[in-house]
Amino acid sequence: MMENILYEGKAKIIYTTENPEIIRVAYKNDTTAFNGEKFEKLEGKGQLNNEISSYFFSYLKEQGIESHFVKKISNTEQLVRRVDIVPLEVVTRNIAAGSLSKRIGWEEGRKMPEPIVEFYFKNDDLGDPMLADVHIQTLGLATESDLEILRKKALEVNNHLLNLLEPRGLLLVDFKLEFGRDASGQLLLADEISPDTCRFWDAETQEKLDKDRFRRDLGGVTDAYAEVLRRLNSI
Ligand code: TMP
Repeated sequence: MMENILYEGKAKIIYTTENPEIIRVAYKNDTTAFNGEKFEKLEGKGQLNNEISSYFFSYLKEQGIESHFVKKISNTEQLVRRVDIVPLEVVTRNIAAGSLSKRIGWEEGRKMPEPIVEFYFKNDDLGDPMLADVHIQTLGLATESDLEILRKKALEVNNHLLNLLEPRGLLLVDFKLEFGRDASGQLLLADEISPDTCRFWDAETQEKLDKDRFRRDLGGVTDAYAEVLRRLNSI
């Protein structure tokens, strides 16, 4: 079987398969923050993120939200549809935290009046800056109607994830989605949904169960990811 590395990112490696429309994603244990400045290999993280991301994509499919996800094929790998990734990080926030707290001065944990959606430019050289719609259009990354579709999809995913996580005692603080275009130009949910790309807090204790444990040196990173998976499978 001839397979080549198509792309290696910070947390995943993408391989071609015999089917040009399908690629294989291998989740790595590598864990980075602050544009790769902070780096560690965390034993078991790739497996946990593969399982968690597969769970979320399967659940979303049951709710009528299509994504690139095809199937999980091993502990650390999944098959997905090949799309052209739009270089935007689509961030939805229910509770102030992280860079939003810094930007607008709201303490972490303050509930947003309504969920909000923001766009960031996936560009390591520029440090992934937040972009306004006019910047995205100037760069030719998406049209205004594409952006409306992305906002709508992000808020739909948010509602479905909130419904899933609430009975499992998890607060969905915020999360990042990526989208790609399929051969017909349609925008499709892609990349991953995992504790690397979301903030999850325990609803009772507010304990952080996501990559902030790594970013902020809180320890217990993979134990927290395992707890998220345990909660997902608990009902
Ligand atoms: P932020 O508060 O740092 O802007 O992060 C918002 C959300 O986006 C949070 O759930 C973590 C996620 N995120 C990524 O998935 N990748 C990134 O590179 C960054 C900065 C954040």
